[in-house]
Amino acid sequence: MSVGIDDISFYTSNFYLDLKSLADVHNIDEEKFYLGIGQEKMGIVAADEDVVTMAANAALPLLESIEKDSISTLMFATETGIDQSKAAGVYVHRLLGLSNRCRVVELKQACYSATAAIQMACALVARDPEKKVLVVASDIARYDLNSSGEATQGCGAAAILISANPRLLEIHPESGHYTEDVMDFWRPNYRSTALVDGKYSTKIYLKSLKQAWQHYQEVSGAEFEQMDYFCYHLPFTRMAEKSQSQLARYTKSECSAEQLSAKIDPSLHYNRIIGNSYTASMYIGLVSLLDNAEEDLSGKRVAFFSYGSGCVAEFYTGTVMPGYQQFLHREQHRQLLDQRTELSYPEYLELYNFEYPTDGDEHHFPEQTKGQFRLEGINQHKRIYSVRG
Ligand code: HMG
Repeated sequence: MSVGIDDISFYTSNFYLDLKSLADVHNIDEEKFYLGIGQEKMGIVAADEDVVTMAANAALPLLESIEKDSISTLMFATETGIDQSKAAGVYVHRLLGLSNRCRVVELKQACYSATAAIQMACALVARDPEKKVLVVASDIARYDLNSSGEATQGCGAAAILISANPRLLEIHPESGHYTEDVMDFWRPNYRSTALVDGKYSTKIYLKSLKQAWQHYQEVSGAEFEQMDYFCYHLPFTRMAEKSQSQLARYTKSECSAEQLSAKIDPSLHYNRIIGNSYTASMYIGLVSLLDNAEEDLSGKRVAFFSYGSGCVAEFYTGTVMPGYQQFLHREQHRQLLDQRTELSYPEYLELYNFEYPTDGDEHHFPEQTKGQFRLEGINQHKRIYSVRG
């Protein structure tokens, strides 16, 4: 029996800032962003959007073709937690109308936790193949204004349905891991923006790639040349290019520069215009690959490198299933991205500086998002979500 990804979709905010606007304000050459880090736009959340609304919006299309009762577990991966106790997934569970017999849990390890959730989900499905597990990864990447990380902000959610005999991608059982206690990127509970040692974080990312690959190769015996496509964790798309050339050098690959690029390019389209969405980032990269690859991917082997600062990394692979094309949500994704509104720099600042009130009174937020679900307000410290009719 094979286990893997039966369905996948993503959602992001309806607003973005073009990095040219940021470059103009800071008097920087825009090519530093467009070429240097490979980013064009970054998604910015509205006041009435959070990780819950993005996750529920991402998951909605997945429920169209299945019995909701077949979902035994919802795993919510995030590093933008909204509560120290309650799992954000419990709100999503209600918004989606899932069964009361579906268990819910939240997982955290920086950008890596969606991958942990997927591996655990595969194990649960292997134990009870009649059931499916819904993994949602949802995050808002925020750095201080005028910091080097500012251009690598973004937001988004990916919803991934794990099942037996999956329609999209079989996940292979072997995987390589790497964990090391490092301080490359972190966010203490009292901060709303991340702290980062930027250059160091890219070095640790690349070191983890080498280590996770080594472990993966030991357990699988697979070679670099056997991988048709790669999905890397994407804090910014240039990171995938750096990773690809490092891994090719390390494995003494004979692929040409064009061949190496062709193995990653289709996975970069969406992230280039969404920005970093932490846990969701690599899986939005997978959607981008499935939606945008020019050739038929049936039978192709896709390699995944998941990285979460701090740090934990994992390398694993999967095979794309024949006929996968008919189960994609390509049009919906393209419409979502095409219909976003560009923010001016002052409008970006206004959304960036919006803070949720903490006084316990009743507050209603302006209706800005267009998604099916929105954060209507906060009353007595409780978030109030609504569903559009
Ligand atoms: P920086 O100091 O703004 O940029 O930091 P830079 O000066 O290093 O320039 C970046 C690149 O642009 C360089 O290329 C320049 O040469 C080039 P490289 O040397 O890298 O090949 N450049 C230009 N290119 C064309 N035309 C120009 C031009 N000018 C310069 N005119 C940094 C960049 C990524 C460090 C910063 O944005 C940052 O701190 N970002 C946040 C941290 C981050 O994303 N780290 C990535 C690895 S860690 C990770 O992925 C985990 C994470 O997702 C969190 C989690 O796990 O939860 C972040």
